[in-house]
Amino acid sequence: MRRIVPFLAILVGLLVSSSVRGQAIVIGEYGSLTGGTATFGISTDEGLQLALDQINAKGGVLGRPIKVVVEDDESRPEEAVTVVQKLINQNEVVAVIGEVASTRSLAAAPVCQKAHIPMLSPSSTNPKVTQVGSYIFRACFIDPFQGAAMANFASNKLGMKKLAILYDVKNDYSVGLRQFFIDTITKNGGQIVADESYGEGDFDFKAQLTKIRTANPDGIYVPGYYTEVGLICRQARELGITVPLMGGDGWDSDKTFEIGRDAVNGCYFTNHYSPDEDRPEVKAFVSAYRAKYNGKTPDAMAILGYDSMDLMADAIRRACSTKGKAIRDALASTRDFPAASGTITIDAHRNAQKPIVILKIENDKTTFVGSVQP
Ligand code: PHE
Repeated sequence: MRRIVPFLAILVGLLVSSSVRGQAIVIGEYGSLTGGTATFGISTDEGLQLALDQINAKGGVLGRPIKVVVEDDESRPEEAVTVVQKLINQNEVVAVIGEVASTRSLAAAPVCQKAHIPMLSPSSTNPKVTQVGSYIFRACFIDPFQGAAMANFASNKLGMKKLAILYDVKNDYSVGLRQFFIDTITKNGGQIVADESYGEGDFDFKAQLTKIRTANPDGIYVPGYYTEVGLICRQARELGITVPLMGGDGWDSDKTFEIGRDAVNGCYFTNHYSPDEDRPEVKAFVSAYRAKYNGKTPDAMAILGYDSMDLMADAIRRACSTKGKAIRDALASTRDFPAASGTITIDAHRNAQKPIVILKIENDKTTFVGSVQP
């Protein structure tokens, strides 16, 4: 008996630790897999699943595989709140990845903050998102930088002096970018000659565009999402407006081209990456993504979904724990993480400092014009 007891104790210990060892670490993902911005959620998920395959093929983290529970918020902020509550309370996720749209990240972030579950937004760029609290992070740059980058490009490279704006009043991202763009244009000595708005879901922009045409601007800034952007470009051309339209990362979808057709040629937008970049990390990512998804070219959300999964796995590995506080602290101390979209250092405000790329649309595709360092 005396010899058997320690033996049994060791056996039980081994069984317990091996059962935890084998058990998956559960992470939640929420995004718009359906609804008005479905390409945002789908692309993010595709990138994330690619990273997940690669992480689990190498044995997962802390000796355990990672399992991701995916929830669709139907492109609606109220639904984002509901699904994130479900992920935390029912699925007991240790961390959450999402959302793309700033409005939906802003809706769900307080749920994560309150539960002390770290949330990592791959691509929400509005500054207010990470201001929700100490558990909220992002893997991308923020809009003061994005708005300024396009404004400086318009003033200095395109020589534009008179600018018009057409933005989405219902969208936190759009409202923010409008202001940051105006700030820099004004600082550069430029002038805002028209400032028009719309609401997501609108499809007739002729009244606003007619006013803009009368103001005779050198360019029009449209910080919106792809469905409205595509329609706005087409209607602008129909009204005889020939100056370039410019936008932000919300333009990044194949749908911009499908909806906007040849009207998007000659336009510019800022983005998180270009598939044409020469960096080896980008090349490796693009070819792995194409191999998994029938030759499809990844957009910015796909690469940021991929990077977010990697960043989260790295944080859990460094935390040596799946406790919310430990993962939070590890995310906060991320320095020089070699992500595919660029090196990520998380700053004191839980944002990533990264370069931005400027793209021009020509012959129905985007071409890399240049990048701006933070
Ligand atoms: N940055 C946008 C937002 O905050 C979302 C977005 C990211 C859209 C990347 C397209 C590509 O709302």
